[in-house]
Amino acid sequence: MSAASGTGAPGPRRGDLELGPGAVLLHGFAGPDAAALLAGLDAVLRESPFRHMVVPNGRRMSVAMSNAGLVGWVADRSGYRYAPTDPDTGRPWPAMPDAFAALADRAAERAGHPGFVPDCCLLNRYAPGARMSLHQDGDERDLGAPIVSVSLGLPATFLWGGVSRADRPRRLRLEHGDVVVWGGASRLAFHGVDVLKPGRHPSTGALRLNLTFRRAL
Ligand code: SIN
Ligand code: FE2
Repeated sequence: MSAASGTGAPGPRRGDLELGPGAVLLHGFAGPDAAALLAGLDAVLRESPFRHMVVPNGRRMSVAMSNAGLVGWVADRSGYRYAPTDPDTGRPWPAMPDAFAALADRAAERAGHPGFVPDCCLLNRYAPGARMSLHQDGDERDLGAPIVSVSLGLPATFLWGGVSRADRPRRLRLEHGDVVVWGGASRLAFHGVDVLKPGRHPSTGALRLNLTFRRAL
């Protein structure tokens, strides 16, 4: 696979890392777009701020979330689903900024999944101590479309399991600008994020931010 970024940004780049069939870690792919992504994120969060959702077992998630797009992923005491309105504001989720969808499509194409048109971007905010346990992204109607996941800010340890929960997950460091894409035979791979360690990043301060693009409808 080519190590050249679709952005045309100058300079050497580390290679792409194949994680499985249809799954790739694109080191630094979103780096040149980070400022535009963070500006879009600010605009979205002014309308639909981060909040800690409560899952059906009554626990509050350590990761704070919001969404942009036609639908947003929500959890509450009754379950998980995609919803067109933000339950906290009663209004539609903010539109997905143009820079978001364009980057997601370029990353998907580089990973071998051309023509990706996401209709949902889940925004995840990790403060030190926050984690996301191993799970599959399976609430989307069209499992033919990939997941594109963009990391910004503090580094994290990504857990990359196989398609069976019993597979021992690989531990991968995700840094600012890294993008993971999984589709095809890897679309239902288990994944998660280990407990975030404290630190400071020039773009996000004491936080890690993650943008996860899906085709949910
Ligand atoms: C997710 O699975 O929704 C988030 C993954 C990440 O934060 O890298
Ligand atoms: Fe996920």
